[in-house]
Amino acid sequence: MDKFVIEGGCRLTGDIYVSGAKNSVVALLPATLLLDVPCIIDNVPDISDVTICLDILRALGADVERLQEGTYRISTAHVNKTEVPPELARKMRASYYFLGALLGRSHHACAAMPGGCDLGARPIDQHLLAFETLGAETTLIRDRGSDGREFVDAVRLDADALTGTNISLNVVSVGATMNAILAAVKAKGVTVIENCAREPHIVDLANFLNYMGAHITGAGTHKIMIAGTDTLCGNDALEGSVEERTYSVVPDQIEAGTFMVAAAATRGDVRIHGVIPYHMRDIAERLIECGASVEVVENEDGEDVCIRVYVEENRRFHSVNIKTEPYPGFPTDMQPQMAALLTLAEGQSNIIEQIWESRFRYVEELRRMGAHINTTMDGAIIFGVPALHGCSVKACDLRAGAAMMIAGLAAEGTTEITEIGHIERGYSHIVEKLRGIGANITRV
Ligand code: EPU
Repeated sequence: MDKFVIEGGCRLTGDIYVSGAKNSVVALLPATLLLDVPCIIDNVPDISDVTICLDILRALGADVERLQEGTYRISTAHVNKTEVPPELARKMRASYYFLGALLGRSHHACAAMPGGCDLGARPIDQHLLAFETLGAETTLIRDRGSDGREFVDAVRLDADALTGTNISLNVVSVGATMNAILAAVKAKGVTVIENCAREPHIVDLANFLNYMGAHITGAGTHKIMIAGTDTLCGNDALEGSVEERTYSVVPDQIEAGTFMVAAAATRGDVRIHGVIPYHMRDIAERLIECGASVEVVENEDGEDVCIRVYVEENRRFHSVNIKTEPYPGFPTDMQPQMAALLTLAEGQSNIIEQIWESRFRYVEELRRMGAHINTTMDGAIIFGVPALHGCSVKACDLRAGAAMMIAGLAAEGTTEITEIGHIERGYSHIVEKLRGIGANITRV
């Protein structure tokens, strides 16, 4: 069984670099199905969710070439299938982006219900609402489990044509917003998507598609407008240039936030490079409330901007209240990591989780390390303790696993984390990166 072993108590210091965003690249890769020319994507993180996306592209008939670490040339000219292999679709949440991209490309798509972290109910009704509003017919393919209960096993989408229209989402959903964009970008006419999510990865998807010739405005606001286009060739290609377009994935806000919290929790002094400071506002504010110092540092020519997080040795943290919200609010994907830090804060911190119904499975694991946490209907109350102690814990899901790493780094003694496959779905070269700032962590 693979696991991470952490000798806690090291103050993290030095420089660390953020990779491209998981939740962006898992949409950009399916989006290549909409392109009429090959493209090059770089700053691609080396994570297992990317491996699955690339496997799906290859299974559909795409040519995927790894040019160097983090850089892929993708040509979807030979794609001739519209069904995502079910065993791959079930391995990750973001496989549902192949529904939107295949529908946009071929007007037909079929995929098994997506897998991914178990965070409670994860419906896709808003995705289907967007597809149906554009003119697709949805067929839910049902099966029966060993307990005799019926469940939806897969979704099939068929459309004679996709027509631009008004899509009003009932829930602010990252996935549904992305899928609506993917399905609408080549639809006939103008689509307006209302009540959109505003996360940096939504802006990144729109930027990528626009760079390839789409007409998307308003990404990053609640209302996105898309003027459908027949071809997505990249503007240079349209003007006769044969040079392939290279697009760089936006830096990962959550990976950067995880490093910021790890730096604070170990009372360290870390410069986090490759971030977009604007994306980190809310996380930085909460850390400052805790007693950490957070500053944006720019080198003289302004080419390297990083965030420095530092905390004096022996400092006790202040308690902080957190309520998760869609961007630009405090991200649910940072809630477990922040909770790990708050176990060490003086007094009582309250956490309210508003996005996922079941994102507190890590609490039991932190308790094993000496944390004092009570869960409530929609949150957790943390009573800070002076120290955590290392023990054997598991990564219940991706961000819960990140919280375990932070707790292990800050704890006294040895922490062993099992089920690290969850962590490796979303954090690129995490062991090497953390070792680079002084963490005593090994993968065994
Ligand atoms: N929702 C619906 N119906 C839908 C879709 C969503 O009711 O059709 C609800 C969900 O149940 C949830 C809320 O809307 O309560 C928000 O869900 P959203 O659709 O925004 O989540 P998602 O697209 O499935 C993405 C990230 C998650 C992240 C959430 C929220 C990807 C692949 N996943 O999920 O990332 O927590 O947005 O920001 O982009 C992670 O990286 O660890 C992770 C879980």
